[in-house]
This record gives sequence, structure tokens and C-alpha cells, in this order.
Amino acid sequence: HSSPLDIRPVTGTIGAEVRGIELSGDLDAATVQAIDAALVRHKVIFFRGQHHLDDAEHEAFAALFGDPVAHPTVPVAEGSRYLLDVDSKEGSAASSWHTDVTFVDAYPKASILRAINIPEAGGDTLWANTEIAYERLPEPLRQLANTLWATHTNDYDYAAALSGAQLSPTVAAQREDFQKSVFSSTIYETDHPVVHVHPVSGQRNLLLGHFVKQFVGLSSGDSQALFNVLQAHVIKPENTVRWRWQNGDVAFWDNRATQHRAIGDFGLQRRTLRRATVNGEVPVGLDG
Ligand code: SIN
Repeated sequence: HSSPLDIRPVTGTIGAEVRGIELSGDLDAATVQAIDAALVRHKVIFFRGQHHLDDAEHEAFAALFGDPVAHPTVPVAEGSRYLLDVDSKEGSAASSWHTDVTFVDAYPKASILRAINIPEAGGDTLWANTEIAYERLPEPLRQLANTLWATHTNDYDYAAALSGAQLSPTVAAQREDFQKSVFSSTIYETDHPVVHVHPVSGQRNLLLGHFVKQFVGLSSGDSQALFNVLQAHVIKPENTVRWRWQNGDVAFWDNRATQHRAIGDFGLQRRTLRRATVNGEVPVGLDG
């Protein structure tokens, strides 16, 4: 039964553009179901030209897919109920690979990011497919990953995360202070299985990203080395999509099957997006 949507894959492994639809809070059930199916299949879906979306309509669209939730530590964007500001002015440059908010037990199932003001050049976002990353692991690594758990925390090294952003030392220090003040105001920590079963697709996915502090039962040195080995399989170029934003674009990703990062190559230009986040479940490992 064919989808009512016009879906164009962007790469061979992840990402699709959905054309000919105006996003809002009152789409019919068949359209919502088709968007949900495209999301699970393509992991991140893109909609161009959604200039009509304001904060309220952005939140209403997100609510069609579950309960929108505010970020646990960052204050909501001014004038909105749940939205997160991703604004370079305030130092938000999520320029290292992560899955959103994995430092809480039931982390978000999806995020919906709307581009408001994009630099003329630069500031693209990358997503990686964590399902294919798992499938393509060599068998011995897959078996090792199957048995591992990881501790995730928001108390991580922001300086290291910002180091690739080509900023002057002063600006980098300001941004680090800002990020520390908002993101680390409350420390969260939780353990998740490194391989989890996606609740809709039933497929296994690697659950890693920059909030991982350590693997349970391993030293921090061994954890770092093993993290680098596994994470390298997630972020292979063949396993990613890179989106060149235009104002009015919306990217909607399955946070249970992806990692993402911004690219900090836009210097002091302003880059502003807003993100709605949809509540998820506690991830289920291979033991159920
Ligand atoms: C995010 O991590 O949600 C923001 C990604 C971006 O700024 O491109």
C-alpha cells in the first residue's frame, strides 16, 4: 500500500526528503502514520520551505507523534512551551556526535529541528544510522557490543566537544562557560545497553554518542579505547547524511536510530534553529 507522501532518499543509507506537504498540527491520521513510517525507515526526514511554522505550530506538529518534552536542564526558548533554542549567539553548537538526551532513562524518541536563520555558508548537520552501524560491525565486535552497558551523563567534556569549532580562544571559553552553566546545572547519569532493540522496527541499534562516560565494568582507559573503535563504525561517511540547511527547513529524526552533530565551520556568523523533542521509552536491550 503506497505512501501518500512524495519521498526522495538523499543517500543510500540514511535520510530522505519529503516533498509537497505543509507541516501543521492538524494533519490527518493517514499522513501522520505515513510520516512516522518514513521516519522509522529513513531515520531522518527533511521538509523544505516550512516558513509558515511558528513556535506554536511547531509544537502542535510535534504533539502528533507523542508527548513533547522540554530539555531537562536548558530553559525553554522564549515564548514557547517546550522548544529548545539552538542559537550560536548563546553558544549552542552541538558539534560532536551524539544522540539527544541519552543521560536520562527514557530519552527522547524523536527531535524536530526547524531552521530559522542559517549562515550563508556552513553550519550543516550530519546524521548517522546506528542500525546499519550495528549490522555492519564485524561479528566479534557485534558479540562484544551485545554484552556491554554504558554509563551516560551530561557531565562531559564540553571543551573537547568544542575543540573542532574553529573559534577564537575567547569565544570558545565563553561558549564553554555557557554550556557548562545550562547543561551541567543538574548532573544526570544512567546506564543503557550498548545494543538496544528499536521498539517499532524491532531492529538492533548501537546506542553510544558523546554522553557516554564509561562502559560498565571497564576502566576509563579501556572504555575510551573501545568507545573509539565502536563509534568509528557509527560515523563512517557511508553511514551518514549531511544536510545543507535553508531557512524554513525542518529535519525530523528518529533519536532511537541515529546520532547527529552540527559542523562548527561558520565562525561568528549567527545560526539559529529551534528543536521540539518527543518523549521516548527506556531502551530495551537484548535480554528484554
Ligand atoms: C541538535 O543537536 O539538536 C542540534 C544540531 C544542530 O545544531 O545542527
